[in-house]
Amino acid sequence: MTHLSNYGNDRLGLYTFVNLANFLKCWTNLRLHTLPPLELALHYFSLFPEQRNPLWQNPCDDKRHKDIWSKEKTCDRLPKFMVVGPQKTGTTALYLFLLMHPSISSSFPSSKTFEEVQFFNTNNYHKGIDWYMEFFPVPSNVSTDFLFEKSANYFPSEDTPRRAAALLPKAKILTLLINPSDRAYSWYQHQRAHEDRAALRFSFYEVISANQHSASELRSLQNRCLGPGLYHTHLERWLRYYPPSQMMIIDGQQLRNDPAAVMDEVQKFLGVSPHFNYSQALTFDPQKGFWCQLLDGGRTKCLGKSKGRRYPPMDPESRDFLSRFYRDHNIDLSKLLHRLGQPLPAWLREELQKVR
Ligand code: A3P
Repeated sequence: MTHLSNYGNDRLGLYTFVNLANFLKCWTNLRLHTLPPLELALHYFSLFPEQRNPLWQNPCDDKRHKDIWSKEKTCDRLPKFMVVGPQKTGTTALYLFLLMHPSISSSFPSSKTFEEVQFFNTNNYHKGIDWYMEFFPVPSNVSTDFLFEKSANYFPSEDTPRRAAALLPKAKILTLLINPSDRAYSWYQHQRAHEDRAALRFSFYEVISANQHSASELRSLQNRCLGPGLYHTHLERWLRYYPPSQMMIIDGQQLRNDPAAVMDEVQKFLGVSPHFNYSQALTFDPQKGFWCQLLDGGRTKCLGKSKGRRYPPMDPESRDFLSRFYRDHNIDLSKLLHRLGQPLPAWLREELQKVR
């Protein structure tokens, strides 16, 4: 009965419900009650609290849904792949390089969340899939166009892999990993540049070495600084929902040093065509100190000031602290990569050497 409104335009449906109610009143001892829609919904969810949290699936995967799906709607405005982060590993560079490919288009920027859609990891999820699909253009050719989105906070999010796999079970997932110690330091510098009060107040060492007696703002900063670097834990969660064949784990250090080689691998993994020659389209900009897009006339288009920042190197005490902090996680990560038949990135091999 709670779903009566679904059949609101179906007069036979209403007729059936009215007669069913009359039948029950006449022939059984059941007492029927009704409530206005909002109260009815509240009552329903108090009886079935587990249903408060929806899990959106692709409406077009079920013929019954597709049959009642409006003619104006499509299920093609969904990504074929996602760059999931974590933050500060080179996700913006990868995003820019992907956009250079003629068959790849991204989601429209969101003004609210630093351009990223951030659907699966936030309350945006409750806005529903129509809201999500509005962020994507209608592809001109569904089989050859590749839509994607990049939300760097998806990687460490508890909810995201389950929600993403329910809606996009065939999507490919791209993640970038750099040395988690460097990632933590880059993130701290990013917070300072954004004038985060706690990051301006506390030194990097104070942040990473905070303990249960430390101020709560310091501990919260510490969690956000160190948590995404627990790569093994997050990857295992993604692998509970996506097969390894749909996941690409990219060495962020390699993307930084040799982006053309990485982009060749990415193109192969995605199965995108035509093959785009990144070694001709990218050039190293000595002033920026990073690889940038090569434009007509030899000019370059590099990422803005907020990417590839200049800041002093990490102090040895912090580096040592973090190597010890991430030690077991890095060992677990190396076992996981081994299990997946993937080579170990140079930074991981260096960290493992320190363990011996
Ligand atoms: P720093 O600014 O600390 O050097 P993200 O885009 O995920 O936030 O990552 C930002 C990091 O990407 C930068 O961190 C930088 O080291 C790295 N990066 C890799 N390739 C880059 C490129 N071609 N241009 C700028 N930054 C790049």
